[in-house]
Amino acid sequence: MLLTLTHIFTGLTLACFVSARRRSTHLTDAPGQTLPVYSPVRPPAIPLAVRSPYTSAWSTTAGDGTLNSANVRFWNGSPLEWEGIVTVDGVSYEYLGAGSQSLPTMPNLVSATAQSVSYDSQYSNFTFAAGPVKITASFFSAVTPKDVCRSSIPLSYLATTAESTDGQSHNVQFYSDINAAWISKESNKTVLWQLYQDAQAVNGSGDLTSANTLHSWIIQLQSPIMFAEDSDFPQWGNFSYTTSPLGSGNLSFQSGSGVDVRYNYVQKGSLNSVVHPAYRGWPFQETVFAYSHNFGNVSSASVRYTIGSIQTPIIRYLYHGGVAALQPWWAKCYGDMFAMINFHWNDFEAVVALGNEFESQLKCDIDAYYQDNDVESSGSNHATRQSPPYANVSAADTMYGTDQYGQKYLFNSDTAYGYLVPPKNLTGLAVPDVSEAQAYYSIVALSARQVMHPYVYAVPPSGSCSSSGYADPLMFQKEISSDGNVNTVDVLYPATPFFLWANPEMLRYTLQPLFENQEGGFYPNGYSMHDLGTNFPNATGHVEGNDEYMPVEESANFIIMSYAYYKFSGNAAWLASHYPLLKQFAAYLTEFSLIPAAQLSTDDFAGQLVNQTNLAIKGIVGLQAMAAAARVVSTTSTASGNDATTFASTAADYYAQWEDLAVDRSATHTLLAYQWRSSWGLLYNIYPDKLLNLNIVTPKVYEMQSDFYPTVSQIFGVPLDNRHHYTKSDWMMWTAATCSAPTRRLFVNALAYWLNSTSTDGPFTDLYETVDTGSYPLVPDKITFQARPVVGGHYAMLALYRAGMNDDENSTMTGNHTSG
Ligand SMILES: *[C@@H]1O[C@H](CO)[C@@H](O)[C@H](O)[C@H]1NC(C)=O
Ligand SMILES: *[C@@H]1O[C@H](CO)[C@@H](O)[C@H](O)[C@H]1NC(C)=O
Ligand SMILES: *[C@@H]1O[C@H](CO)[C@@H](O)[C@H](O)[C@H]1NC(C)=O
Ligand SMILES: *[C@@H]1O[C@H](CO)[C@@H](O)[C@H](O)[C@H]1NC(C)=O
Ligand SMILES: *[C@@H]1O[C@H](CO)[C@@H](O)[C@H](O)[C@H]1NC(C)=O
Ligand SMILES: *[C@@H]1O[C@H](CO)[C@@H](O)[C@H](O)[C@H]1NC(C)=O
Ligand SMILES: *[C@@H]1O[C@H](CO)[C@@H](O)[C@H](O)[C@H]1NC(C)=O
Ligand SMILES: *[C@@H]1O[C@H](CO)[C@@H](O)[C@H](O)[C@H]1NC(C)=O
Ligand SMILES: *[C@@H]1O[C@H](CO)[C@@H](O)[C@H](O)[C@H]1NC(C)=O
Ligand SMILES: *[C@@H]1O[C@H](CO)[C@@H](O)[C@H](O)[C@H]1NC(C)=O
Ligand SMILES: *[C@@H]1O[C@H](CO)[C@@H](O)[C@H](O)[C@H]1NC(C)=O
Ligand SMILES: *[C@@H]1O[C@H](CO)[C@@H](O)[C@H](O)[C@H]1NC(C)=O
Repeated sequence: MLLTLTHIFTGLTLACFVSARRRSTHLTDAPGQTLPVYSPVRPPAIPLAVRSPYTSAWSTTAGDGTLNSANVRFWNGSPLEWEGIVTVDGVSYEYLGAGSQSLPTMPNLVSATAQSVSYDSQYSNFTFAAGPVKITASFFSAVTPKDVCRSSIPLSYLATTAESTDGQSHNVQFYSDINAAWISKESNKTVLWQLYQDAQAVNGSGDLTSANTLHSWIIQLQSPIMFAEDSDFPQWGNFSYTTSPLGSGNLSFQSGSGVDVRYNYVQKGSLNSVVHPAYRGWPFQETVFAYSHNFGNVSSASVRYTIGSIQTPIIRYLYHGGVAALQPWWAKCYGDMFAMINFHWNDFEAVVALGNEFESQLKCDIDAYYQDNDVESSGSNHATRQSPPYANVSAADTMYGTDQYGQKYLFNSDTAYGYLVPPKNLTGLAVPDVSEAQAYYSIVALSARQVMHPYVYAVPPSGSCSSSGYADPLMFQKEISSDGNVNTVDVLYPATPFFLWANPEMLRYTLQPLFENQEGGFYPNGYSMHDLGTNFPNATGHVEGNDEYMPVEESANFIIMSYAYYKFSGNAAWLASHYPLLKQFAAYLTEFSLIPAAQLSTDDFAGQLVNQTNLAIKGIVGLQAMAAAARVVSTTSTASGNDATTFASTAADYYAQWEDLAVDRSATHTLLAYQWRSSWGLLYNIYPDKLLNLNIVTPKVYEMQSDFYPTVSQIFGVPLDNRHHYTKSDWMMWTAATCSAPTRRLFVNALAYWLNSTSTDGPFTDLYETVDTGSYPLVPDKITFQARPVVGGHYAMLALYRAGMNDDENSTMTGNHTSG
């Protein structure tokens, strides 16, 4: 059944992704407890409203939790209250949040029964049974990377629908609220609030019936601090929760103590439309901000909410004109906050269509990539392949099978995963009996919102180089979860495949401020800076040059990203305009990359190490990319002189030496560090050599590594190196893209298997144990990376596919989409 891989996604329709392994019955973990059916897999946390570093709400599946069994969480785990109830014929069904748990027992308040949870690149959809209706809660955080204006909006949608399942009409009301935990974790910080109707503050009156009247709860701190954070929550700005009467023709609202407001709603089915006086701290009286829609007798009804944290200005930026407070890009597109909220509300249908376009492209490109690259479609192994159930049943639930590459394996019918058997049963290597394309889809679809959300788009300050010549935004990334730096070069770098596939111009918008800072003379060192500021949103650089010391890492990253941007955009003028700084970094690599001194690489949690093989090859690939950049520049100017020849010969010379130093005496793999015999690691830095067609790394090394990885694989993938059992999901996907099809499948399917089984409980972590329960790393000390943008690296195969299209079409990609 499942082993037929061709045409996994049939055409452009959204219905084309159908998992053949989706169970038709409910999974039951504990007696009496029914879990919803998850599709395409059950990840540790489901993205709900994920649009900016400050609009980042998730639902954890830990402990069999679902949308209405526990609070929603901020990316860092901090609880947020977001309550949702549908009342049907007087019975209130809670489908979102856990507010009912702090109310007295009421016979007419029950939990809706979770039935299914599905996600794609744009949506997380939850369905529930609620008496005679079915509830669907559809959380929509659009991913539209080619549309800069829309991407800059920090708001997300929730559309909730109730549909009769018994053919009768029913008396239906909807209720929803939020609390102030969305703007402050500290429950003793005083917040202010107001209800606006089309930008006018109201209380107890106003138009509650016109379908088009927009209502926004706006909450803010009483004592904001501009550009400050507290436990990763912004200390300035407004938080908006917005709705309109839509088809209900009857909206009510109320703020006040959460227990009172919710209790009275359940009793009466409506709210009193009074704004409880402001200046109330919480949780002395835990204040909530609520809406209710009354539909009366209907067979189906829908409401929509929009939610998000809004800052004006958004970034503090050092440039040659001084320190400037930058406005968000959306202000340039749409005007003030209310105009933006209004645009976003009315844009629903248009952005649904754009999101569908992205989703279709994603599926079709995965389909096309696997058709081009899978042994399956070449037909070579079809003769030896069997489909389950297999002939040799060795235990009740365990069977021998032959995978699509003709390798025998032990198959577990419960998990649909198996292990290679002799002579190749190396070390617990998982051979999932699921299509690699579907496994890959489950990974990249979940990563899309996560990679986009830690960025904000800002209007360049007047007079900066970026504001002259072209009207584009500057992009600023918060290195959320690991340390909050701005535009960390080695965090942009792993995410590059996503940008190259989705819109290479995003890479330019993020590199631009790093160039501006260093070209403006604000950074004293000869190598690339590590980041543009220690604490987002202060993009004020490191005028003393005392940023995290990763000189070879960042200098090579910078050159490789700049050249990759050119390669995918064709923008030679941009490359030429930054040539001198890139050349300075290349000079640093010439001096220091072949024998790297003791220093950190991007995997800084692993500590300093001298002679890192993977770091040295990055420097060498960087020099080869620099030679290619010099060639591009030489076609329009004389600025690069003989540089192309010089850098190319240095790269070739270093590469020959590197192979001698880097390959283990057994000639079966490269080392982790030159001086450590038998050591090994993921050699992910050869991926740009393949992606950008740099051809410095020999086929022999690609093949050797590809053959080696299965011999050190664990159940959840290949460890980062021989020192620990943990791995990095982004580097696994980079490495997968450098391997033969069977080894690539091993990486991809192991990551999808981990995603569906891990004991981690937060947003997609990129750092986890490949053994036991796939937890956060046990050593060193349970670092919990969460929701980081590096998951853009999961798009490594898609970027390769896009690069191949460039070659096929004999042209560079057109990346100049700045519509809005
Ligand atoms: C989620 O719901 C939206 C709106 O109905 C739909 O377009 C989308 O295909 C759904 N996605 C999934 C994964 O169920
Ligand atoms: C608020 O609570 C935090 C700890 O929860 C405490 O550090 C802080 O001093 C408190 N602030 C006020 C104004 O009480
Ligand atoms: C950013 O700088 C401002 C002004 O110095 C400061 O008040 C704020 O706390 C800083 N923000 C962070 C997150 O450190
Ligand atoms: C919050 O919203 C108000 C009303 O639109 C606006 O005047 C203010 O500048 C906003 N504050 C911030 C920090 O965004
Ligand atoms: C709106 O709903 C409330 C509460 O259910 C009801 O009392 C009121 O009559 C309704 N108003 C209109 C205009 O339908
Ligand atoms: C709203 O009106 C009610 C009474 O109608 C009043 O008690 C309350 O203070 C008002 N709220 C605000 C914020 O003015
Ligand atoms: C709603 O419909 C039911 C029958 O489906 C009917 O008994 C009831 O009177 C209706 N209520 C209203 C307010 O129309
Ligand atoms: C491979 O697995 C089989 C069956 O579990 C076992 O008998 C054999 O010793 C293993 N071979 C190696 C090389 O580990
Ligand atoms: C993209 O835009 C830049 C700046 O407007 C321009 O120089 C470049 O030629 C464009 N590239 C393509 C491929 O259109
Ligand atoms: C690093 O590698 C070089 C070249 O093999 C070697 O000379 C040097 O001793 C190594 N450094 C250490 C600390 O082992
Ligand atoms: C995910 O795990 C569940 C059991 O926990 C299993 O039933 C399901 O088939 C798995 N899905 C995939 C795609 O592996
Ligand atoms: C591809 O590019 C080369 C070199 O620029 C050119 O000579 C050739 O005509 C192009 N081929 C096609 C099919 O456009």
